[in-house]
Amino acid sequence: MPSRSLYNFRVLLAFCDEIGFHLAEDFYWFNPAKLPSPIEWVNKRKIRAKDSVNTVWWFSKTAFPKADVRKVLAPYSDRMKKLIEDPESFYTPKKRPSGHDISAGFGKDNGGAIPSNLLSIPNTDSNSSYLRLCKELGLERHPARFPSEIPAFFIKMLTDEEDVVLDIFGGSNTTGFTAEALKRKWLTFEMNLEYLASSVFRFLEGHSSETVKRVLGELNNSHANYFIGETVCALDPAKKAKSKDESLGQGALFISGAGAR
Ligand SMILES: C[S@@+](CC[C@H](N)C(=O)[O-])C[C@H]1O[C@@H](n2cnc3c(N)ncnc32)[C@H](O)[C@@H]1O
Repeated sequence: MPSRSLYNFRVLLAFCDEIGFHLAEDFYWFNPAKLPSPIEWVNKRKIRAKDSVNTVWWFSKTAFPKADVRKVLAPYSDRMKKLIEDPESFYTPKKRPSGHDISAGFGKDNGGAIPSNLLSIPNTDSNSSYLRLCKELGLERHPARFPSEIPAFFIKMLTDEEDVVLDIFGGSNTTGFTAEALKRKWLTFEMNLEYLASSVFRFLEGHSSETVKRVLGELNNSHANYFIGETVCALDPAKKAKSKDESLGQGALFISGAGAR
């Protein structure tokens, strides 16, 4: 059927009506590099336009979530830069039809523009240590990775350094890697052991291929808990991670980090 599943809308309503979350805002990730899909209805039968956005629901536990949009300001447009440089001569202050009063004060430099809820980010990563090591070791790359700019945007806007970031559908652990770089603590859950094991490649940039093979071998063969610096990889659901923080070991498949210092 070319018509769409309503599942995501039902999830949205159930999260709010049954669990009590608030919908703080809906975001749309526009991937300009996305190939036309679904193939059957877009390419073959030419019924639908191609899907180019993925929805990101931002849910909060309260009606006033912790957030600061100033942490994710977007670069100013060239027009705005000119206005900031010379607000007086750029144009005459006047009232717009929208009701916004565009005075000379509008030309104040706030360090960047308030971002839109349409995040335009291409998914074109081809150089990461993750991809390189997957190829070198003949392992399947995660088929649905997202670019680190997606978690980076929300981690910056919604958390501070040392806060904990959790991804319960971690895949190749883009979220944990990004959280680490942004000095957050993090936990990632993933049910596919192979995806979880190879996600450590993200943390092995600069290590020799012998080290990489040894780490992967130990993770896959003994299902050991493994430490890379402060990152704990616990791949055995039956074992508790013997980390400094015992509360991390919940008996699930997970990988976690303390945030780069
Ligand atoms: C879309 S992928 C996430 C990709 C990730 N954002 C990345 O950049 O690599 C979703 C992942 O969730 C995992 N998954 C699905 N159901 C799960 C569950 N119940 N518990 C843990 N992981 C699950 C899948 O194996 C898959 O790897």
